[in-house]
Amino acid sequence: MNVLVTGGAGYIGSHAALRLLETGHAVTIVDDLSRGRRAAVDRLEPLGDLAFVETDIGARERVAGVFRDRRIDLVMHFGALAYVGESVEQPLRYYRSNAAGTLAVLEAMEDAGVTRIVFSSTCATYGAPSSEDIPITEDCPPQPINPYGRSKLMAERMVTDLADRKRAGGGDFAATILRYFNVTGCDPAGRLGEDHRPETHLVPICLEAALGGRPNVSIFGTDYATPDGTCIRDYVHVDDLIDAHLASMEALAPGDVRTYNVGTGRGHSVREVVDACRRVTGVDFDVTEAPRRPGDPPVLYADPSRIGRDLGWTARRTDLDTTIADAWRWKREHPNGYE
Ligand code: UFG
Repeated sequence: MNVLVTGGAGYIGSHAALRLLETGHAVTIVDDLSRGRRAAVDRLEPLGDLAFVETDIGARERVAGVFRDRRIDLVMHFGALAYVGESVEQPLRYYRSNAAGTLAVLEAMEDAGVTRIVFSSTCATYGAPSSEDIPITEDCPPQPINPYGRSKLMAERMVTDLADRKRAGGGDFAATILRYFNVTGCDPAGRLGEDHRPETHLVPICLEAALGGRPNVSIFGTDYATPDGTCIRDYVHVDDLIDAHLASMEALAPGDVRTYNVGTGRGHSVREVVDACRRVTGVDFDVTEAPRRPGDPPVLYADPSRIGRDLGWTARRTDLDTTIADAWRWKREHPNGYE
């Protein structure tokens, strides 16, 4: 299949491109490199039929040319901004990238007659579910509490509204929306890793502290209504997440729109993650207690049973230390990321 991967130079998109190439698909990465890394694409180039186009997804003529020239069959749309805190500071930037960006992808698909999409969404669409909604099923009402979650929910609605319209008109549009929980780890073979600038995610921040690149790790909020007072998240290995994409892609059926949670089904507190990072790295890095970070919901972990039932997907790496160990191996070998 000829797959267009938006955001394919980014952390998750590059891992998807890697797997698609390894399984014999032709991949076209579209990325404006605002957050993605050209060096990640360079590592993918020897692995198969890969084209890279550096452009904003909103460049309609250019993107139309890409769809035509590469005879695209299916889109995996990863390209997005994904920092909760930043979205609170710069909401319009998030609506442009995540909502308007998805609009541009869907318009480009319509122009090109492409009818299949796997869309990267997020558990941030759920907001701060009440305790009876934990673990979170896909039926939990979406009530995002930050612009990031709202911009992704808007994008989801565009996908489902378009799918409804196509279905009503007898068209064969097919979409799967994957709501990721906290994606962690990296390619177990160490070819790709996580290299965000700026880095805000808990696991890489702990690993940077273990390497001495940061004086300490701040725990944002120790007064949440959780057993140890810190936020609880569901840390899913990126390789498992990519399994879910491949399974979704293969299952896309004309007229179908599906939404799945992709998580392990287990929650870990910030303190538990810090302890796991200390265990895996063998470094007892310093921790300080800091105020809550705006936009953070207290508890988010998945009930992933729907994707298990429908697609047979389940997270294979449910041991946090194993997931962190993959991230640590890459970080140790690439203390400055891809540079
Ligand atoms: N945290 C700290 N200190 C840090 C960094 C993070 O205490 O230095 C805490 C956060 O406050 C949060 C937890 O660790 O409670 C996880 O934070 P991350 O930034 O690693 O991840 P988020 O949960 O904020 O965000 C992730 C993804 C988003 C996704 C979101 C859903 O990055 O794309 O989960 O909430 F939408």
